[in-house]
Amino acid sequence: MARLRLVHRCSECGASFPKWTGQCSGCGAWNTLVEDVEDPAETAATLAAGMSLVAPGVATRIGEVDALAGRPVSTGIDELDRVLGGGLVPGSVTLLGGEPGIGKSTLLLQMLATASGPVLYVSAEESARQVRLRADRLGAVRPDLWLLPETSLPRIVAAIDEIAPVLVVVDSIQTVLDPELGSAPGSVVQVRGCAHRLVQEAKNRHVPLVLVGHVTKEGGLAGPRVLEHVVDTVLSFEGERHHALRLLRAVKHRFGSTNDLGLFEMTGEGLRGVPDASTLFLGDRTAGIAGSVVVPTIEGQRPLLVEVQALTNRVSSAAPPRRSAQGLDQGRLSMLLAVLERRAHVSLSDHEVYASVVGGVRLGEPGADLGLCLALVSAVLDVPLPADLVVIGEVGLAGEVRQVGHLDRRLAEASRLGFATAIVPSGADAGRAGVRALRAATLTEALGHAGLTRA
Ligand code: TYD
Ligand code: MG
Repeated sequence: MARLRLVHRCSECGASFPKWTGQCSGCGAWNTLVEDVEDPAETAATLAAGMSLVAPGVATRIGEVDALAGRPVSTGIDELDRVLGGGLVPGSVTLLGGEPGIGKSTLLLQMLATASGPVLYVSAEESARQVRLRADRLGAVRPDLWLLPETSLPRIVAAIDEIAPVLVVVDSIQTVLDPELGSAPGSVVQVRGCAHRLVQEAKNRHVPLVLVGHVTKEGGLAGPRVLEHVVDTVLSFEGERHHALRLLRAVKHRFGSTNDLGLFEMTGEGLRGVPDASTLFLGDRTAGIAGSVVVPTIEGQRPLLVEVQALTNRVSSAAPPRRSAQGLDQGRLSMLLAVLERRAHVSLSDHEVYASVVGGVRLGEPGADLGLCLALVSAVLDVPLPADLVVIGEVGLAGEVRQVGHLDRRLAEASRLGFATAIVPSGADAGRAGVRALRAATLTEALGHAGLTRA
């Protein structure tokens, strides 16, 4: 009989230590060590399971491997297929991460509703009744959809045995429990152990498996690194809770690129794909308002036109005025305010500044810099920008306008939505876009093009 041992395990990377320390020496994270019990026999078994994630076999010439067997099968949801590069590969394991309430269960139930053949939804969080009510709302009630409200791993495996589904969803992996592993539900040992076992089932049966994973408040998946290694694909479902828009990205994908972005809108009848996001984002826009700029951005491979807004107010207090950034990086906003002051002589040091991206999108790329600068100057001068103008460019500390990637795709999207003029970096090749390109080498030149000069 193996002896149980008390260890301190990092909830980030899974490394274990005999003593507690403030910082994990495995991954460098702070305050992540938690008490855990370790069973040496079980650890060995889990490791062995981890080694056999690929179906066991013999060496074959690569040309003789049946590639067709690994082809993705459509999920029936276009935006999901787009991110997965066509669909779910048989025997693959996908982890869908996202904050609570973002719509993970909804998306997966909708996916199961369109599959053909018996499919199994393991609800380890909600009662059968709750899931049924949601399924009614989503029109997902169909004879081949099996529902198992269960947290116990052996019973889940038994149900997979009995039903022989063509697709399995486990919602969520953090609430599944293997009674043979001594530790508490949601602990790294449990999450990893259960995931390993389910992955083995998927590989052996050649059935695609989707696991739901919660993200912690820092944005990582709980027990994350360990799970990311075990699965083939990690999807992240994001969005602002108070907006209907949801973004789906692949963070890791063994069967294709991680570039594509899926867009959904949460409606009363579940999630609806948004093939034309730019139109959606610009839907409520009122042209001719100072402080508003349309920026063609790139999310993955996908061009998106988003509206960036700025509002400034002169304040007289001695305290530093407020700077608020929503959907934008706060540090980037501060940097651009400094560049505006030093390089373009637009000082906002006695103004409070609010900048935001409309529609719940987060702009992470520097290609939106110039747009944000123009929105800020437009706001402070109270001069609106031309209604048919888009702005593209990264801004450097010297006040220079720098090149951005995928300019042609950005301009094509702007042209498609009827924008006629674009301010672009000076070296840009914008010949065939169908949009009149105004080239700017510096921030000051761009302000001139946009008519933002003090009278
Ligand atoms: P859910 O799928 O339960 O989120 P998760 O599994 O990620 O925690 O979705 C929860 C939210 O979605 C909930 O606040 C209600 C909303 N919702 C709709 O707006 N329309 C719908 O048709 C459904 C099913 C949910
Ligand atoms: Mg859920």
